[in-house]
Amino acid sequence: MPEPPRDPAGDAPPSTVEIRVVDLWKAFGERPVLTGVSLDVRAGEFVAIVGGSGSGKTVLLDHIIGNHAPDRGRVLIADHSWPGAPLVDLAGADEETMDGLRLQWAVVFQRNALFSGSVYENIAFWLREHTSMSEAQIRARARESVDAVGFRGDDSILAKERDELSGGMAKRIAVARALAMRPMLLFYDEPTTGLDPASAAQIHELVFATHNARAFTPEGAPTRRTTVIITHDKDMLRRLRPRIVMLHHGRVFFDGAYERFAASTSDIIRPHFELMPVLHDRTIGW
Ligand SMILES: Nc1ncnc2c1ncn2[C@@H]1O[C@H](COP(=O)(O)OP(=O)(O)O)[C@@H](O)[C@H]1O
Ligand SMILES: [Mg+2]
Repeated sequence: MPEPPRDPAGDAPPSTVEIRVVDLWKAFGERPVLTGVSLDVRAGEFVAIVGGSGSGKTVLLDHIIGNHAPDRGRVLIADHSWPGAPLVDLAGADEETMDGLRLQWAVVFQRNALFSGSVYENIAFWLREHTSMSEAQIRARARESVDAVGFRGDDSILAKERDELSGGMAKRIAVARALAMRPMLLFYDEPTTGLDPASAAQIHELVFATHNARAFTPEGAPTRRTTVIITHDKDMLRRLRPRIVMLHHGRVFFDGAYERFAASTSDIIRPHFELMPVLHDRTIGW
């Protein structure tokens, strides 16, 4: 396997930076979406990405997980597949390196991306493809994952079809599927948008508990989990107090502690903070 490209910036120990975005630019046709986003996320951090609808939050996430290629700038991700590995520049990464990285992260997509089929099939699919686990082990992992998202004692949940799930249940199953992968890096795109307050509160707890639960490197060493969450959920921010990164006009407009964000008198931040509950109430399907 060729050595992954090194991080030429390299000013921080690679083991502590999980995600490094350097001067990222992206346009779709004539429309500039990201115009110079720079961001470091360190191991163990809990980061919320906020910003108006269409401000480029999902596009940024898509770059971090390698689904979009930047027009300009770079995205580097920590590689935990061997000790001391340098950050990997996604632009130079071959498929094998990308596959190795993808084993370390899980994404809870905005529309959950559950495929039609049972809850069990949704959870088992990735594990069958990417691990050497036996079907019995996969079943045990699936059970453990649905238990973790609040289905303990519910014997019928794994057999349920996607289309039988309510919005809140579907979201919890999407989280369970992500947990089953035992990721070191966990991404959520608006996990509570459109949910009723009780379901949203359950997801808040889950996101928090999952962030703090111990994760493991591919070699089985215990490590901290890193969480990046795109959200408009003011309640979640207030309860979980993440580091906040706000996108505005294609750039990072604010990057700092929740307390400072909530107390800001900026005439860009204030109106956004006040509009969040409206953005958060939109209804999202599976
Ligand atoms: N694949 C695409 N092709 C064209 N335009 C896109 C694509 N993905 C996103 N966009 C545009 O980029 C802008 C930012 O989108 P997005 O990141 O989804 O916003 P949000 O902050 O709400 O997640 C929007 O104007 C959207 O229409
Ligand atoms: Mg989005």
